[in-house]
Amino acid sequence: MALYSEKVMDHFRNPRNVGVIEDANGIGEVGNAKCGDIMKMYLKVEDDIIKDVKFETFGCGSAIASSSMATEMIKGQPLSEAMKLTNKAVAEALDGLPDYKMHCSVLAEEAIKSAIEDYEKRKEA
Ligand code: FES
Repeated sequence: MALYSEKVMDHFRNPRNVGVIEDANGIGEVGNAKCGDIMKMYLKVEDDIIKDVKFETFGCGSAIASSSMATEMIKGQPLSEAMKLTNKAVAEALDGLPDYKMHCSVLAEEAIKSAIEDYEKRKEA
């Protein structure tokens, strides 16, 4: 069996939603201290719906594929749904990741949660 699924390779080679949202109203940045990879997530939220999402990932192929897939999964979704997205769901949507690469999908889950928390904080301010 190939180490990586075709979906992982596809999202790694052609990542969706890469970039920056200049007028983002929720930004989250997380990193993994062990591998040093960093993921930044930008959200444009309107009426509690994620209208747009983009990411920048300075990291491994699995982290790029995970962030790409995760952004596809939360685009157009209410914040309450996006908050529920787990790294397992992201990995499953990619047709699996090798065990030792599961932490890469955790970055995607954490980056989204951190961006949503940032949005909530800004709203309160
Ligand atoms: Fe660090 Fe994949 S090896 S996120």
